[in-house]
Amino acid sequence: MADPANFVDIGFEEFRKFASDASMSKYEKIGFPNAYREGREEAIFADITGKLRNLNGTSSKVLDIGPGCSDLPTMLIELCRDRSHELTLIDSQEMLDLLPSGQRIEKLAAMYPQCPEFIEANRGKFDVILCYSVLHYIIVDVSFFRFVDLSLSLLAPGGQLLLGDIPNISKRKRFFASETGIRFHQAFMNTAEKPQVSFNTIEHDQIDDAVVMAIVQRARLQGFDAYVLPQDPSLPMANRREDILITRP
Ligand SMILES: C[S@@+](CC[C@H](N)C(=O)[O-])C[C@H]1O[C@@H](n2cnc3c(N)ncnc32)[C@H](O)[C@@H]1O
Repeated sequence: MADPANFVDIGFEEFRKFASDASMSKYEKIGFPNAYREGREEAIFADITGKLRNLNGTSSKVLDIGPGCSDLPTMLIELCRDRSHELTLIDSQEMLDLLPSGQRIEKLAAMYPQCPEFIEANRGKFDVILCYSVLHYIIVDVSFFRFVDLSLSLLAPGGQLLLGDIPNISKRKRFFASETGIRFHQAFMNTAEKPQVSFNTIEHDQIDDAVVMAIVQRARLQGFDAYVLPQDPSLPMANRREDILITRP
């Protein structure tokens, strides 16, 4: 059972090329086969807004790290416009060019967190930070704990950071070793064979339970509350992905 996150070795620079490739759909440009996102993004957005409750207020400061170019950032842009939030979007210039512009929308072309001036100017200012389906690229491309620490430093009192849609390979293995996971695999792949799951092996460049728990501990030790949350079961990859919600008390 394949996970799109594992298909090819892609990162920030590859996404930049995808953004400029007119032959790719808006879902393929962000690394997903169409079936994983087409018609599914309203449910994904509802799951996000159910967790990032600060989005339901007004006149907040909102940051989206790695918004991509499908319908999710468009929904966020519309919500921010309706609620008079200030929105900052950080991604490659090529990806940002595919998104609508508007009042109270700042687009910053950068490979986050390699934007020291932005970070210095925004310490303690953001009420909401969303980083959805990006962490597995961050862990390969940039210094991981610097990413966590610097993102936490941007949160205002009461601010929320959602590290969403994390492909946790340990969760994936637990699922595909279970009876439910085996039946899911057999139906999806139209096969009688069982999925191959190997435990006690090093998985280079993958997020596992150790990474997920380390983020939670790292945040808590800096005075933040941090929780691992499940995705709504109706989401396309809820059986092998999960979210981390961090709040500044
Ligand atoms: C899988 S897509 C997810 C897009 C969007 N968040 C979503 O879930 O629909 C990953 C996005 O993150 C961007 N990205 C990857 N690493 C990044 C980084 N270090 N800083 C900013 N953006 C990054 C990519 O360019 C791409 O647009």
